[in-house]
Amino acid sequence: MTPTWPVLAPAPDTPPAGPSHPHPGTGHILTRYADVHAALVDPSCRVPVAEPGLPGTLAGLRGAVSRFSAPADHPSRRAVGVAALAPLDPEALRGHAALLTAAALDAAHDRVDVVSALARRVPVRLLAVRLGFADPDAVVPAVAAVAAAYQPGAEPAVVRRADGAVAALTALAPPEPFEALANRIGLLVQACDATAGLICAGARHLLATAERPATGGDLVELLAEVLRLDPPVRGTRRITTAAVRLGGVDLPAGTPLLLRFDAANRDPVVFAEPDVFRPGRTVPALTFGAGPRGCPGQPHALRLAAGVLDVLRDRCRRVPGPVRYEPHPLLRVPTRLEVTPR
Ligand code: HEM
Repeated sequence: MTPTWPVLAPAPDTPPAGPSHPHPGTGHILTRYADVHAALVDPSCRVPVAEPGLPGTLAGLRGAVSRFSAPADHPSRRAVGVAALAPLDPEALRGHAALLTAAALDAAHDRVDVVSALARRVPVRLLAVRLGFADPDAVVPAVAAVAAAYQPGAEPAVVRRADGAVAALTALAPPEPFEALANRIGLLVQACDATAGLICAGARHLLATAERPATGGDLVELLAEVLRLDPPVRGTRRITTAAVRLGGVDLPAGTPLLLRFDAANRDPVVFAEPDVFRPGRTVPALTFGAGPRGCPGQPHALRLAAGVLDVLRDRCRRVPGPVRYEPHPLLRVPTRLEVTPR
């Protein structure tokens, strides 16, 4: 029998996919799949670049990671991160994530908050161990502190906390030259909020509740559809370095762009019945980005989330109720999401 898949409404502030348009304070917003993809692969649309900073500080980290690098520095810095990830077997990460999740549930008495007990802990802890960091329990809060200040515009107190956390992570990382070290730490920071958001979105949409059974099927395929309809990373930014035509509009050099994955992932030109949760779609969502700066941790993120959810689907159901999200312009991580043993 063909399953009837549910309709998943977009988050309230998701724009519809449509022509690009200017937006005060943001520059130009791109919402159609083709336009967002074009901007991701166009060399005239570059990421906002971070200037070099003092090693051992947040500014030093931001100035050395591939994520905020100018095009000339990006390939070699990205290669450092990719090489550090290469020995990690995503399927082994899935197994370890399941073991840590089972242990956390065994230690709990009744309700468990998925956000604090699992989503914000398991992926970073496992990656830290695999990437050679000492004291993974100390790494977890330090990475969260850096992640909170990683994008431009963080409050001074948040930046000060991140400075201390970068110093702590530097001391816990395996010894290596500054740029390699920065990109190793960068892997954990990039993984932190986004993977937590994916685990929570998966728990929200796939676990059983008192009213409905758990969504069945291959978990990695289900997560691909969760990533499309409830993306933990809702967009990214670029700035044009030359005059370009995007979304049917001529944009001068120096135009800031906001690329909305959440809107593009529901573009009806690309996804038939875009609001229907239907696993097995052939076109990938844009939630991991695309092109030379697309996410190198995609297989790891999917397997880490699948490992946590393997166990949650088996042993828990979600406590119903509204879900609130941390305030953030582009990330979607709940403040709390409770499950209880079945
Ligand atoms: C669900 C989880 C994740 C999502 C949705 C996600 C999404 C993304 C996106 C959209 C970008 C590109 C941003 C842009 O082009 O502006 C990116 C970059 C990146 N991600 Fe992820 N990511 C996730 C998990 C991870 C994990 C687990 C790792 C590491 C193990 C990781 C490492 C990185 C790195 C290093 C970059 C920068 C790549 C570069 O500079 O070329 N991510 N991620």
